[in-house]
Amino acid sequence: MIISAEDVLEMSGVETLHPGGFDLSKRIGEVVNFSPSTRVLDVSSGKGVFACLYAREFGSRITGLEFNPRFVDLAEKRAQEEGLADKVDFKVGDSRKLPFQDNQFDVVVNECAVGLIAINAPQRVLDEMVRVTKPGGTIVIHESTWLKPLSAEERREASLRFGTMPYSVEEWKQMLIKAGAIPKIVEDWSGMENALKIRPGLKWSPNSTPADIFTTREKLNFIPRLLSKYGIGPVLELIRSQKRLIRYQTEGYAGYSLIVASKG
Ligand SMILES: C[S@@+](CC[C@H](N)C(=O)[O-])C[C@H]1O[C@@H](n2cnc3c(N)ncnc32)[C@H](O)[C@@H]1O
Repeated sequence: MIISAEDVLEMSGVETLHPGGFDLSKRIGEVVNFSPSTRVLDVSSGKGVFACLYAREFGSRITGLEFNPRFVDLAEKRAQEEGLADKVDFKVGDSRKLPFQDNQFDVVVNECAVGLIAINAPQRVLDEMVRVTKPGGTIVIHESTWLKPLSAEERREASLRFGTMPYSVEEWKQMLIKAGAIPKIVEDWSGMENALKIRPGLKWSPNSTPADIFTTREKLNFIPRLLSKYGIGPVLELIRSQKRLIRYQTEGYAGYSLIVASKG
């Protein structure tokens, strides 16, 4: 049994669930032409933080699609508290079979959930995203990447630990092309500085560990739950694996990229 970063994040109080955090999502706002008339789909919208950001900053009309009903409840609550309920709506659903007709949205965003091991169907998710995008519309993803060769076993173990399957930038672009989109912009968001932006204000230092993204109170809350769900062995192995995960990023084996494509 391997506990992944995704498993831990799911149990934690962290709200921004992707590397690059607000900086990366704001960057999406700069490269994509959001306006009040833009109809946006946020696939795997998590706790709704970024759907609300796009509605607030650009006045766009956003639908969030998310598998976890608990996250949908949190997202709806957030939209109401922020006074955005008329601009944002959330729906429970599966990114492998989007509950929307073809050619519905101007922009379809998926922040960090195409390659999830739990979904295990990156091409199918991209096919669905492109299907529901209007001709000429925009598809945005940011995902983990392989930058340098590692053995098959090291890649397998790292993917299970991350909870997501990285691909090379070229492989991501080919999957988008196969889905019917033309990649237009690729930006590198690799490195621990960017990874730690998952938690606003957190700065990377050589002594940082992935566990730093959690507050002491959060650790006290979820570590007992991890122990009762997985047992002591997998939790100790999770702690031991942290140095390896950092090394893959600081030594440039694993990275992270923003890719923007257009449909036709
Ligand atoms: C890494 S989080 C990203 C969440 C959000 N996009 C963000 O950046 O904050 C991955 C999200 O994918 C969701 N997810 C898992 N399986 C899914 C599926 N089959 N369809 C849609 N979303 C799924 C998870 O519940 C989680 O909210």
